[in-house]
Amino acid sequence: MKIIQVNSYQDMSQRASQFIINKISNNNALKLGFATGGTPKGTYELLIEDYKQNQTSYQNITSFNLDEYIGLSKDHPNSYHQYMEQILFQHIDIPKANIHLPDGLATDIALECKNYEELIEVNGGIDLQILGIGENGHIGFNEPGTSFDTLTHVVKLAKSTREANARYFSNINEVPTHAITMGIQSILKSKEILLLVSGENKAEAVKRLLTDDVDSNFPASALKKHPRVTIIADKLALSNA
Ligand code: GLP
Repeated sequence: MKIIQVNSYQDMSQRASQFIINKISNNNALKLGFATGGTPKGTYELLIEDYKQNQTSYQNITSFNLDEYIGLSKDHPNSYHQYMEQILFQHIDIPKANIHLPDGLATDIALECKNYEELIEVNGGIDLQILGIGENGHIGFNEPGTSFDTLTHVVKLAKSTREANARYFSNINEVPTHAITMGIQSILKSKEILLLVSGENKAEAVKRLLTDDVDSNFPASALKKHPRVTIIADKLALSNA
């Protein structure tokens, strides 16, 4: 794992957006894996800025998101469909047909998981997966204890994850209890991974990532098994490491 230390959230966003733009300029048909959460927001804002200034085209880009809440419709303000639409997709020229997220309202959720995994495969796999990390080490919504063999599947969200994400909802009871997430194996199948980490609340997770053994009780440790992982972390996130 290559670690790039930066001073601040803004610097992390700057380095991350440049990293992504460089990949797109080498391959304008890149298959990009997107993450949600607070961490990548600044990166996405800078991608939009670059799109406006430099006309970086997303016409041939295909996107896959890591996860979606079960029970929220695509136009629910807290769905990850809406997050991506509002924060990135509506501001760039990516064709709607190229955008993929799991459907949290699918009637047959098991089939939806299988189809999503297959869709990634038929598109040739993800070239660059952007990731954040939960305070408990979750990646996507793969909570501690998830087997490293998992493909896209349904998860019951940990209490701490629901509490952490409650800030986006009017109260914790509105945070869905389950989600569809790409599995750890699905994430490891990506050709390259970019992990973004910022802030003191992630310092313990970063310390564990850098020092602990590979262990399914700390899902992000699976990244140590991948040959091409870059971590861009700010000083606060690295303050325990
Ligand atoms: C969420 C998402 C993850 C995200 C993580 C951290 O629950 N499912 O993809 O990386 O938690 O979120 P944040 O960046 O807001 O700290």
